[in-house]
Amino acid sequence: MSAPVLASCALRAPGQQSSPGHPKIVKVGLVSLGCAKNLVDSEIMAGHLHKAGMELTPNPDEADVMIVNTCSFIDAAKEESIGAILDANRDRGMRRRHRAQKLIVAGCMAQRFAGELGSSMPEVDAFIGLDQLTQIASIIEGLLAKEREKKAPPENFVTPQPTFIPDFDTPRFRLTPSHTAYVKIAEGCNHPCSFCIIPQMRGRHRSRTVESIVAEARELVSEGVRELNLISQDTTYFGMDRWEEKAGPRALVDSARGDSLTHLLRELQKIEGDFWIRLLYTHPAHWSDELIQTIAKCSKVARYVDMPLQHISDPMLDAMRRETSSQHIRDLIKRIRAGIPGIALRTTFIAGFPGETAEDFETLLRFIEETRFERLGVFKYSREEGTRAAKRDGHLTSRTKESRWKKAMALQRRIALEQTTAAVGRKLRVLVEAPGVARSEADAPEVDARVFVPKRLPVGQFAEVTVVSADEYDLVAR
Ligand code: F3S
Repeated sequence: MSAPVLASCALRAPGQQSSPGHPKIVKVGLVSLGCAKNLVDSEIMAGHLHKAGMELTPNPDEADVMIVNTCSFIDAAKEESIGAILDANRDRGMRRRHRAQKLIVAGCMAQRFAGELGSSMPEVDAFIGLDQLTQIASIIEGLLAKEREKKAPPENFVTPQPTFIPDFDTPRFRLTPSHTAYVKIAEGCNHPCSFCIIPQMRGRHRSRTVESIVAEARELVSEGVRELNLISQDTTYFGMDRWEEKAGPRALVDSARGDSLTHLLRELQKIEGDFWIRLLYTHPAHWSDELIQTIAKCSKVARYVDMPLQHISDPMLDAMRRETSSQHIRDLIKRIRAGIPGIALRTTFIAGFPGETAEDFETLLRFIEETRFERLGVFKYSREEGTRAAKRDGHLTSRTKESRWKKAMALQRRIALEQTTAAVGRKLRVLVEAPGVARSEADAPEVDARVFVPKRLPVGQFAEVTVVSADEYDLVAR
């Protein structure tokens, strides 16, 4: 999850003016919460608003319609989403001229709870899900065209088990800085992780074609994008949903069986230009030697891999239904580190899963200590209604979860400081994000560290710098 994005760009169709005699331009405010996948959905809505001649406004006061694109991954994300909906509603209540402002709730929380939220959030005008992203303009037109009857329930457009997946020509207006882009290569997830609600919201795994992604990537690179962040729920499962012979939950990336991530990376590598390809959300069950060798050979693929592991103790991995054993993960990390020199590994763990014993947790801490991940995040287990884990025995107290989370984070802070201190004196290639702030190959946008650089370095360009000092996570370079 990342910081909320309030669409801050004025989108107006070319030549479109609001003037006497012309119909008023519909202005839309958009708050995007949650992960990069949700951000791409916001971008798709923004693209369709633009196509329909509507305008995105960063100022909620002047919006005819507010859209809150929500996240529902864990309690904290739900609370943030509900807070954003309530804020949007309170703002319109406080200004007489905005009482007619419409409020639409989109995204994972709408997809998950639309049926129930209607009665607890009557102030919302409509709920939309993933399958309605491309219909956002006509839904807005419909809402604006009719006066809502007092006490009428919100309109619920959400369809269960969504099937939508964007294509290269799906209208989209990017909300990220112009030099970096997310490319959604697939949607949905077939994994049965017992703690996770996402497959129930986002549907079965469905991949785009290699051709569609390459066409989009070419266009982005020609527009000046320097970093393509490949995202999906499980990036390593890319293409496997279309294999003739069914790919199970432990199938390995294998281009001999059909479209695969390795095939995609080789095609993206052929695009001319200076850019990074970054792999986010890979699953340890699908990593093959072919994938390791392909990354090693493709110079444009950043030496960075995001691979959420969630735990390392076998009883926990079984209970989480992670499809991987401790031995598999330990061997895989050795193979990745040996096969791709200089790789930065990012992972996430869950502390305090139901039934996690003190011994399981100690095993996790020892593993963090031994493996020394370059980037690591820890979540406190969040009991999510509708998941298998929610029904398990052995839920831990908030206090235990909090204390384990703190211990794991403190350990990683120490490791991170040792790593950043060791980086002093090293030369780094960075991508300049904003005046004075850059990211290295080991830092994904939003979630990882920063490199502070001289302000004169041009934004959106690569630069070679030398690290001169460091704190726990960030580096200073000249
Ligand atoms: Fe949240 Fe949905 Fe992403 S639950 S983390 S916005 S896939």
